[in-house]
Amino acid sequence: MILYGKPVADALLDNAASKIDNLAGKTPKLVIITNPNDPASQVYAKNKIKACVLCGINVETIAMPENSTTQQYLNLLAKLNQDKKVTGIIVQLPIHKTADEKIVSSAINKEKDVDGFLKDSYFPPCTPAGIIHMLDFYKGKGFLAGKNAVVIGRSEIVGRPMAKLLLDRDATVTICHSKTENLKDFTKHADVIISAVGKPNFLTSDMVKPNACVIDVGINRVNGKLVGDCDFENLKDLCDITPVPGGVGPMTVATLVHRLPILYQKQLQKEAEHEK
Ligand code: GUN
Repeated sequence: MILYGKPVADALLDNAASKIDNLAGKTPKLVIITNPNDPASQVYAKNKIKACVLCGINVETIAMPENSTTQQYLNLLAKLNQDKKVTGIIVQLPIHKTADEKIVSSAINKEKDVDGFLKDSYFPPCTPAGIIHMLDFYKGKGFLAGKNAVVIGRSEIVGRPMAKLLLDRDATVTICHSKTENLKDFTKHADVIISAVGKPNFLTSDMVKPNACVIDVGINRVNGKLVGDCDFENLKDLCDITPVPGGVGPMTVATLVHRLPILYQKQLQKEAEHEK
């Protein structure tokens, strides 16, 4: 079975749009801080803007000039954190190399952290959260319990939080990475494989057991075409697999958009409590 992201993402976006309708004319606002030198960052931002506009969310993008320093990012974030009109803030990664990504990402106010990158965020990061939602949709909520799950990649925004969410669903989890020896020994026994590597054709059909469930988080460009990490053509008849594009990508975006009316209502509640 091909696990398409779009129907699941569309349902989430519909839900977000109806929550926004219920705000009686009040409109949440998202600010996206982008790095115009990074083409991938621009594509992600464009998809987020499109989905927000569809749901009736205001969006502003701020393109950081080349050579921006950590302090310049921090000054901008301090202003946006204070701004009552701003519901959510995204610093689209990767940022300019002249600034420190960790310091910048952690300067977003928790109340506005729509990405879920802070240690004490209200939400987990969007990509792993979207993947769990997608697995729930296609396989049912109890599916992961007792399953052997292999996550390939150990990044802060995908691999590590993914492993935690799988563990929270009672899967048996292994995190593999660039230094893992004999990767195939792990993947071959996996019921669920999450590949977040960033290399085209990395996961091939000899590495996957029949009827496994493969989630492809890779976004790679080959001859101008967008492809994932997996040999999709040879895997699609062997196991369940997400396509690239059209799999995990729309889920990341919809998960993010869905959080804006939630944050907005939390902020309204806080304000009301302050005024009491
Ligand atoms: N770069 C790649 N994925 C993401 C994401 O989900 N959020 C942000 N801010 N940057 C990213």
